[in-house]
Amino acid sequence: MERVQVGVIGVGRMGARHARNLAGSISGARLVALADPDQAARERLRAELAVPYSFDDWRELVHLNEVDAVVIATPVELREEIVRECVAAGKHIFSEKPAAKDLATTRRIKELLAGSEIKYQLGFMRRFDPGYAYAYEQIRSGRIGDPVLIRLTSRDASGPPLSYVRTSGGLFVDSSVHDFDLSRWLMNDEVATVYAAGGRFVYPEYAEAGDIDTGVVTLQFRRGGLGLHDNARHSGFGYDIRTEVLGTNGCIQIGYFQSHPVVVLQNGHGSHDCVADFLERFRDAYLAEMKHFIECLRTGCEPSVGVEDGEKALEIALAARESLHTGKPTAVGAAVDEAQGGTRPAAGEGVA
Ligand SMILES: NC(=O)c1ccc[n+]([C@@H]2O[C@H](COP(=O)([O-])OP(=O)(O)OC[C@H]3O[C@@H](n4cnc5c(N)ncnc54)[C@H](O)[C@@H]3O)[C@@H](O)[C@H]2O)c1
Repeated sequence: MERVQVGVIGVGRMGARHARNLAGSISGARLVALADPDQAARERLRAELAVPYSFDDWRELVHLNEVDAVVIATPVELREEIVRECVAAGKHIFSEKPAAKDLATTRRIKELLAGSEIKYQLGFMRRFDPGYAYAYEQIRSGRIGDPVLIRLTSRDASGPPLSYVRTSGGLFVDSSVHDFDLSRWLMNDEVATVYAAGGRFVYPEYAEAGDIDTGVVTLQFRRGGLGLHDNARHSGFGYDIRTEVLGTNGCIQIGYFQSHPVVVLQNGHGSHDCVADFLERFRDAYLAEMKHFIECLRTGCEPSVGVEDGEKALEIALAARESLHTGKPTAVGAAVDEAQGGTRPAAGEGVA
């Protein structure tokens, strides 16, 4: 494929970021269409980026002849329907995470893709962050010996509204899924068991959705390695993603607080700014993941992160959610998948 023509479905925070990257910074790609029922947002972006086509209904974008590949950046509920239509129309797919909100849907998406020639990449962009990618190479090269412990902190500056939380799948499924992916990727192992705890300290209204705003998860990997994650919807200071991997012969730390390498010293105090949000912290990663996707389509290679990675990370997230509600360690793979008719304890049970 000489030049990949791409359409973006959903032009909110993530869709707009991908659209801007595709329109301006990726050789071999051309942004040809946008779809979103939010006409004002769509037309604003269309004018800014001079996009030829714009649709209210995403189906029209999928079936547009000029479109070779589709970026899915809609709310998670629409994933399966859009993937199904893309596969039928022969369009390659870049899907924002999570692959789906439940395992049954994720597996149906996996089956749809398995029976097709469609290339699919999942938006686990942290793997493309220069810091994380470098750390991964160092760990794989044996620089710190065998990785035995991963500590991971993941905090948003402030939490989403209850309306978002209600349909998000909860902290572990919606947000920590990135962290679970990082852990299995950096540790080069699968998670066997998790034990989670959490509470609502900043957003009491999340009780209505049975969700928490702060959580911790301990992980035990199949080969015996250990993990300790802490996640918060509200840091009170900015976006904070840091990771430490301890090996048998050293340690690697990834991440930083400051946006600019500048400290202001004044009146007996020193201060610096903080990273504002994920769009800023992972700016390079969002661009690199999309370059990778386009390159795979042009060269015929398989994207390095796919729906199976989404499935594995989701299995861990569901086990963590189950553990939170039962108060007991949970084997990954044993958690109830609500989409398959299972039930779990009442919302909020076992939560502070
Ligand atoms: N990789 C990351 O770092 C990251 C960060 C944030 C969100 N996400 C994921 O990206 C996805 C989008 O999140 P967001 O934060 O951009 O949300 P958002 O609410 O900002 O944007 C979603 C957009 O989808 C549009 N939409 C709704 N229904 C639609 C339909 N039927 N057809 C087309 N468009 C439709 C909405 O109008 C909105 O513009 C979510 O799945 C989320 O989990 C990923």
